[in-house]
Amino acid sequence: VNGKMEIPVVVNVLYKTASENISLAQIQSQIDVLNKDFNALNSDYNTPNNPYSAVRANVGINFVLDQVIRKSTTKTSWGTNDAMKKTSGGGMAAVSPTTKLNLWVCTIGGGILGYAQFPGGSSSTDGVVIDSRYFGNTGTATYPFNLGRTATHEIGHWMNLRHIWGDATCGNDQVSDTPVHNTANYGVPAVGHRSTCSGTPLEMYMNYMDYTDDRGMYMFSNGQKARMDAVFAVGGSRASFR
Ligand code: ARG
Ligand code: ZN
Ligand code: CA
Repeated sequence: VNGKMEIPVVVNVLYKTASENISLAQIQSQIDVLNKDFNALNSDYNTPNNPYSAVRANVGINFVLDQVIRKSTTKTSWGTNDAMKKTSGGGMAAVSPTTKLNLWVCTIGGGILGYAQFPGGSSSTDGVVIDSRYFGNTGTATYPFNLGRTATHEIGHWMNLRHIWGDATCGNDQVSDTPVHNTANYGVPAVGHRSTCSGTPLEMYMNYMDYTDDRGMYMFSNGQKARMDAVFAVGGSRASFR
């Protein structure tokens, strides 16, 4: 990505209650968080005692709010089966998914904060779903997931990033500058927390692709940036966004 990479974002809001019909200010707060987190401009980027400060990445991708579309629904929760992306299921179809990032904001249920489609899937379901209570950093945004990092994490998946623990005990996230983790971290781990995997490295629990509270995550690595860049490069699976 050349530093001018700009992704138009379509926000599809599905609401039953008034509080689910989040404000434009809350929507814009999420766009602002993304522009900080993907450009090393987040206020916690320089958190002290980060053993991985040397591999922190300025990903260099910008997000621009393209349009907000709202739809009233009778559904109290949508689950994770993509129903919110289909007009047949009472949802909203993706707008220009090969050139715009579609976000669906709704109540998911089941304790799920958000979920994403990886590159290479059907364009009709392409994009990211975020529960309205974990979207942006104002309005109905709810602690400890009230800083907009659910979207940062899910868009990481949308740009081909795996979980930092590789979804297995001491698993592989296909990124060489991230250490091997036992499993997901929750809350905010103590400084100096190590894995018991091979080499017992310090864990990179401050990475957006872990499962910590929003206030505990503040970086992507250079290796993750390379994976994201490859997705948008000529010949990459999302080259249509260039
Ligand atoms: N897919 C994860 C979930 O739904 C999202 C985790 C996001 N983490 C965060 N701190 N916002 O559980
Ligand atoms: Zn995830
Ligand atoms: Ca790794």
